[in-house]
Amino acid sequence: MPPRDRPVENAARRAPARGEAPEVSKKLFIKTYGCQMNVYDSLRMADVLAPLGYRSAATPEEADLVVLNTCHIREKASEKVFSELGRLRQLKAARAENGGRMMIAVAGCVAQAEGEEILRRAPQVDLVFGPQTYHRLAALVTEAARSEAGVIDTSFPSESKFDHLPEEARPQGAAAYLSVQEGCDKFCTFCIVPYTRGAEDSRPAAAVLAEARRLVASGAREITLLGQNVNAYHGEGPGGATWGLGRLLFALAEIEGLARLRYTTSHPRDMDDELIAAHRDLAQLMPYLHLPVQSGSDKVLAAMNRRHGAEAYLRLVARLRAARPDLALSSDFIVGFPGESDQDFAATLRLVTEVGYAQAYSFKYSPRPGTPAAEAPDQVPEAVKAERLAMLQGLLAEQQIAFNQGCVGRELEVLFEAEGRREGQLLGRSPFMQAVHVAAPARLKGRLLPVRIECAHPNSLAGRLAGSLDEPGAGPLASVMEVAS
Ligand code: 5AD
Ligand code: SF4
Repeated sequence: MPPRDRPVENAARRAPARGEAPEVSKKLFIKTYGCQMNVYDSLRMADVLAPLGYRSAATPEEADLVVLNTCHIREKASEKVFSELGRLRQLKAARAENGGRMMIAVAGCVAQAEGEEILRRAPQVDLVFGPQTYHRLAALVTEAARSEAGVIDTSFPSESKFDHLPEEARPQGAAAYLSVQEGCDKFCTFCIVPYTRGAEDSRPAAAVLAEARRLVASGAREITLLGQNVNAYHGEGPGGATWGLGRLLFALAEIEGLARLRYTTSHPRDMDDELIAAHRDLAQLMPYLHLPVQSGSDKVLAAMNRRHGAEAYLRLVARLRAARPDLALSSDFIVGFPGESDQDFAATLRLVTEVGYAQAYSFKYSPRPGTPAAEAPDQVPEAVKAERLAMLQGLLAEQQIAFNQGCVGRELEVLFEAEGRREGQLLGRSPFMQAVHVAAPARLKGRLLPVRIECAHPNSLAGRLAGSLDEPGAGPLASVMEVAS
């Protein structure tokens, strides 16, 4: 799953949950690191805590409870958490001097992987809980508030958290996330996810459809289905049938008012015929697919336990493009995997040239304790990794710029999600996931409108509204809502 560069500053909701008003109002600040699944989890944590009286705090300074929802995918990501905990220790001490109490919780994949170690390294932490236990968060917070020692819950419970979460308390906005699948059984040899998120598990189709309908009723026009290995989705369908992701997308496409569907992150091995057919047949399924390949070398792919070779990936890309000719592709790449030779790296560059990506994420291999590749004897020196990364990123950047420039002069449908940085500007997404800046009044937030693309930047496009705002295709004005982060 593509990681975001910067943590989301506060995923806590700004309003109380539905139902009874809690007696005491407390302030919650959630800082989210890593992937979109963490963003979704943070939103749901806020839902769980709302009945306890927790409202959003603008900064950690004013919060009674600070949750760091963490990422363990690479060393850099997890080290960030400990430096943030250092800053929070000072805030907590300052609060205590004034006779108050700030609670600190560590959630997510670092919590799952390091558990007790977090309390040892950072005794200021009150609560540590993993990605599969946050439905118990209200009880855990209550217990931590009473306890002198830190509380830990990093179990993999037999019950699914989704069966125990409250309904969403607040709309997400025009573009919403919906987790449909969790965990991973693939065990790529570099990856910590199967250990931190646990075994693959899919939500029943009826639960997904019900959540999607609620999201649409609250203003969502686009839904991105999330899962660590989302196209391995195999949820319970009606009458005891098992639905794959393709079947689920066909059913979601029938929801009135849901204009756009996306899903992430996929494994090439799980791209089945029905899912490819969904790309061919569903206008709502956006022509953008994040399909990580990691490497172009068969030797490295085998050592990574990716279960496919470069040729199979290229054949799959060809089938997808036959189904949806305008499909924009994205990928993840790892350079400097143990044993990667110059020839192996050259094979990656060849694959990139052959596919032609609209955008991609690339990383230096980072050994994760407990994963097989971390023990491999033939680790690649940092300097070589850095050199290869720079070369790969240069090629990917050229492709991205070329793709963006190819959009200039075209009219693209843009879903306006937020206000832009500049006054009088809105920020939206093209069908191909590019960020698009447009001069437009704030009242158009939440609408899907045609935009004439006038200018391409390396990481975004700019354009102007095309056509009349009263066109029937423009869709209804969404009610005023804010993206929670
Ligand atoms: N080192 C570097 N990159 C990694 N990824 C996963 N594990 C590692 C690691 N140990 C990358 C993969 C994956 C993305 C989410 O993060 O490219 O697809
Ligand atoms: Fe990690 Fe591989 Fe699973 Fe993706 S498919 S989450 S890279 S183990």
